Amino acid sequence: MKKNPIVIMAAMDVEADFLIKKLENMTYETIEKYKFYEGTIEDYPIVICRCYVGTINASIATFISIEKYQPIAILSQGTAGAHGKNIHTGDLVIGEKCVNIVSCKTPYKKEGEGSNSLEWKLLKFISGEQDRLEYQLGDKHFIELAKKIPFPNGKVHFGTLGSGDIWNQETDKILWLHQNYGTLCEDMESIAIYTVANRYKIPVIGVRVISNNEILGEPYIRTTGLKSQEFCYQLILEIVKNASS
Ligand code: 5AD
Repeated sequence: MKKNPIVIMAAMDVEADFLIKKLENMTYETIEKYKFYEGTIEDYPIVICRCYVGTINASIATFISIEKYQPIAILSQGTAGAHGKNIHTGDLVIGEKCVNIVSCKTPYKKEGEGSNSLEWKLLKFISGEQDRLEYQLGDKHFIELAKKIPFPNGKVHFGTLGSGDIWNQETDKILWLHQNYGTLCEDMESIAIYTVANRYKIPVIGVRVISNNEILGEPYIRTTGLKSQEFCYQLILEIVKNASS
């Protein structure tokens, strides 16, 4: 019987290369501009989707993945900027939850009163319902599996991923998000991947490696993408082991 695959989303080549090399019997196809690499790891079907940067790309690519493959799991994987003083470049954040950090309502201000984003409120706008703050949840079972995986070269933090089409470099804004909404990091795809996966009831988990910490002046290191892939490879093995037992 054909097994339903695990789909791994990666925005950039440096977030996908290592895992693509791990695929046996690899084939690939492009749908719209998104690249889907199909193969197996330990005889289990795996699809790696190069979804490109940003929430619109990630939403479309996640939707196509679900329609085409009916996956048993979706991983949101790649780099992120730290939102805490104790979260360093090379650390990992596992997303128990994910929140949209660009979906906001501002207070009313008159002409000439300026703008202060620290007065904004994160909100999800829901048609016909009261606007409210809403977190998207990661799959509890996969989060427990992730806790078993050793990560000797850095710390693994479990908590909230911030996500949206923004690269925050204002320290006060980053700390405001961290203090008010509990975000440990920010990326540009996870909120789309979590929201679409949850809508279709596909278990989802985010694994993000810290590539920069703007608060501490730790500059962006592109190649950190390798570390989230190495961790995801181990996580895939755990998911496969559990799926077959
Ligand atoms: N803010 C937002 N996105 C970031 N990324 C890495 N660091 C950050 C950051 N500080 C990721 C995004 C996107 C690409 C620009 O890198 O997810 O894919």
